[in-house]
Amino acid sequence: MLSVRDLTVSFTGEEGVVCAVDRVSFDVRAGEVLSVVGESGCGKSVTAMALTRLLPPYARVTGSAVLDGVDLAAASPRTLRHVRGKDVAYVFQEPMSSLNPVFTLGRQVTEAVLAHEQVSRSTAEQRAVELLDLVGIPGARDRLRVYPHQLSGGMRQRVMIAMAVACNPRVLVADEPTTALDVTVQAGILDVLRDLRTRLGTAVVLITHDLGVVADVADRVVVMYAGRIVERGEVRELFRRPRHPYTKGLLGAVPNAEARERSGRLLEIPGLVPVLSEQPDACTFADRCPRASARCTEHEPPLENVAGHEVACWHPHTDDENATAGRPAERSSDA
Ligand SMILES: Nc1ncnc2c1ncn2[C@@H]1O[C@H](COP(=O)(O)OP(=O)(O)OP(=O)(O)O)[C@@H](O)[C@H]1O
Ligand code: SF4
Ligand SMILES: [Mg+2]
Repeated sequence: MLSVRDLTVSFTGEEGVVCAVDRVSFDVRAGEVLSVVGESGCGKSVTAMALTRLLPPYARVTGSAVLDGVDLAAASPRTLRHVRGKDVAYVFQEPMSSLNPVFTLGRQVTEAVLAHEQVSRSTAEQRAVELLDLVGIPGARDRLRVYPHQLSGGMRQRVMIAMAVACNPRVLVADEPTTALDVTVQAGILDVLRDLRTRLGTAVVLITHDLGVVADVADRVVVMYAGRIVERGEVRELFRRPRHPYTKGLLGAVPNAEARERSGRLLEIPGLVPVLSEQPDACTFADRCPRASARCTEHEPPLENVAGHEVACWHPHTDDENATAGRPAERSSDA
């Protein structure tokens, strides 16, 4: 349905060039939840913003993101206005900054409906009630008159989702929609996303750094590191047999639920995500990787199918395979 190819985003600022997203390709299928995961700074949000050009003007974007024959990365502002909201909708991490504090919920959700549908105000209001109902806001009709500050964070996030689905978008991009919420509230929001997929057939691109969330709701997962995709596949298969050392590190860094709740974050792999000023012909994970070899710093590993899912690594073995079981071609030269 949405086909992203070689999406590359770089920023030129006072400190030079930052290559935030490097030749990222993936497909989003109708009615699926595709998750994009990775540590802070690996390019998840920039990828999401590039899909409807919410990036600042100094961002340089190449590659394509095609939805129904329209390239979102290259479309004219007019086409994009038409697409945005109708076909692709966004939900961001901080609902308070996206809701207008001086208007009631009723007004904001109704306006969201009116922005995309030519219906009367009373029909739009009725639709607003249905939407608030759909996202699990109790007593939806009575809530139309409340202001954003009168709601909890979880309820505000539900309102944001209601506004995003106001026009039945085909793809909903949710960037860390639950990060600011506590675990129980988070579960409720994930239920809403799951429900949208089943009831409306909406495809969801769920951006998160929380692998627990991925395991809960996603069908497929894309793992990003330093702007590149390093592993990609069905969630269950990838979690059972992660092949990239980075993914293994992320999974190994998932503590139990209780510890997760306390820390709120999962990722504790030693070292930092590098900020890249160019596209090096090397594995960008090499300086943190326990398996790194000379080949890793000399050539970029391509994303290739290895027994069940795709991985970009010269030594993509799992724990139960021995350390020399890399790709056949390299065994003799670089084991
Ligand atoms: N507007 C911008 N101008 C310059 N650099 C930017 C801009 N936005 C993002 N970057 C850089 O691009 C890289 C990727 O950032 P991005 O926001 O996509 O990370 P992320 O994976 O979403 O992280 P987080 O989990 O913290 O949200 C970072 O190095 C960031 O500093
Ligand atoms: S290519 Fe090399 S450095 Fe990169 S993840 Fe694989 S083993 Fe590690
Ligand atoms: Mg982000």
